This record gives sequence, C-alpha cells and structure tokens, in this order.
Amino acid sequence: MKIPHPIPYQGSKRNLAAQILQYFPDNIDRLIEPFAGSASISIASAFYFKANNFVINDINEPLTQLWDTIINNPQSIINQYHEIWQGQHGNEEKYYYGIREKFNETRKPEYLLFLLAKCVKAAVRYNARGDFNQSPDKRRLGRNPQMMGDDILRVSHLLKNKIKIFSADYSVTLDNATANDLVYMDPPYQGTGQNGGFNYAGNIEFENFIASLIELNHKNIPYILSFDGRTGDKTFGNPLPDCLHLTKIEMNAGRSSQATLLNRKEITYEVLYLSPSLVSKIDLQKVMAKQLYQPELFATHG
Ligand SMILES: C[S@@+](CC[C@H](N)C(=O)[O-])C[C@H]1O[C@@H](n2cnc3c(N)ncnc32)[C@H](O)[C@@H]1O
Repeated sequence: MKIPHPIPYQGSKRNLAAQILQYFPDNIDRLIEPFAGSASISIASAFYFKANNFVINDINEPLTQLWDTIINNPQSIINQYHEIWQGQHGNEEKYYYGIREKFNETRKPEYLLFLLAKCVKAAVRYNARGDFNQSPDKRRLGRNPQMMGDDILRVSHLLKNKIKIFSADYSVTLDNATANDLVYMDPPYQGTGQNGGFNYAGNIEFENFIASLIELNHKNIPYILSFDGRTGDKTFGNPLPDCLHLTKIEMNAGRSSQATLLNRKEITYEVLYLSPSLVSKIDLQKVMAKQLYQPELFATHG
C-alpha cells in the first residue's frame, strides 16, 4: 500500500522518505518537523510505526491550518475540495485565477489545497506582498477528489490524536525540543531560492540557522538535516561549518529534470547531515551494511 500524500508540494521529500527513515533511531517518542511543508517525513514515520508522537510546524499559516483540518476534520475538507474542484469544468483557467484571488483575500486552507493541486509543478510561490502568485497547469484538472479524499482519510487515521501543529518561525519549535526527540529539518533550499523559483512563504538567515544547530548540539538533541546537494559536479547550498561535527550522507535522488531536458545522464544527490547525538544513538555501520545491497543509492563521507 502506498504512503498517503494529500498535499502536492514542490520540494517534498516523499520519494526520499524511505532512505531518510533508515537513519532514525528505534523507538522515537516524538518526531519534530520545524519546516513541515507537506509533512512527508512525519507521514512516512507514522506509516512505518517509527514514532509515536509528532510535532509539525511551518511558517506558512494557511498550510498549517490545512494540516489541522486534514487531520482533525477530514470530512469537511474532503467535501470542500470536491465542491471547489467540480466548479472548474468548462472554465478551468479563469476559475483557477478566481480561486487564487479568493485565497489571497481570505487565506482559507481549502482554497490553498485546490491551488496546490492544480498549479504548475505544485510549486508554492508567493510574491513580495505575500500573495500566492503561481499559475495553473493548463494540462491538468488537479488531483481527482476521490483520490484526494482517500489520502486525506488515511493521513487523518495515521496522525489524529498524535500530532501537534504550529505555525511559527522554526526557532520557536526548536526551543521546545528535548534530547528524547528526533528533529528532522528541511529548510528552504539554499541553492535554488533566488533563481530556481522555490519561493516558499518564508526563509531562513543562514547565520541564525547555524546558531540554532550549535544550540541543538549543545543540548544533545538528535537531528537530521536535509540541506544541500549536487547535480553532476555542480553543488548547491552553503557549506556547513566543521565545528558542528555532522556526518554527511549523499542520497541518490535520481535524474534531475534539468538533466533530463538536456538529455544528460546527471544524477542529483541530496545531502543529509546527521547530528553527533543521533550518530551516537544509531548503528551507522549496520545501516551502511544494509545499503551495500543498494550501492547505487548511497555515497557517504565522514
Ligand atoms: C523544503 S520545504 C519542506 C518540504 C518538506 N520536507 C516536505 O517533504 O514537503 C521548506 C518549508 O519551510 C517553510 N519555511 C520557510 N521559512 C521558514 C521559517 N523561518 N520557519 C519555519 N518554516 C519555514 C516553508 O514554508 C516550506 O514549507
């Protein structure tokens, strides 16, 4: 059975979730995702019984409200999505722009779900005023309500009564983490933000982010960080300072869409960093030994 994934979201880690989960320690009481987006790692962790409780946070408030409704009131968002989706027939493009206008006026989560399901590459894009400004994908109607409804119900079933949802800066969420939690962080991309078009609702200041990581190390809070990567020889993302003592793991994320367009065989590698306290809790040798059976998927650096 496939892992449910109701919110289409550019930058989602859903395809890498199984690889990322291999680095989780056993019996995590609480998994915290301060940059949740489509919460793909929390959902996969619940699906594979990797954690008992969850905290998700994202600075995009309508997105967190959408999560709240999906998990705690699934039938209402299923009905709303169905109604909004049905309304588009015969007038798709104009209708999309109408919903976009309504979203920008009201910030209601049901409109956001439709926009994400129907916009180009499920790419959230906001302008300087904070208005959603992505265009519709004219070739598609957006996810079929039946399939959307199934995924919403399944996610609600996985996470209801086990999750707390917040909308604040990531630093607030990190302040509440403890050494018994596992924190998974996937901040907005370093390399693609300016010109690659990953214009999420918020961003991070690199220096402040490093200070937060130092603080997590100081408190022995285990964390996994998805940060940068490379396609062929081209790396993207700021290098992280050595004083953090992170273990770097490269994961094969497949052929980049750009390379495919150019008919090149370049593979994109996404990088995971494991914190010192996480490495002390897991048997990295054992994880690596398992991966010998799939050598094409992994490359590691100390
Ligand atoms: C790369 S995406 C996360 C994708 C997620 N891992 C997934 O699988 O869908 C980064 C997220 O961070 C959020 N964000 C940006 N700045 C933030 C901040 N300062 N604090 C908290 N969240 C922030 C964005 O709204 C976006 O959803």
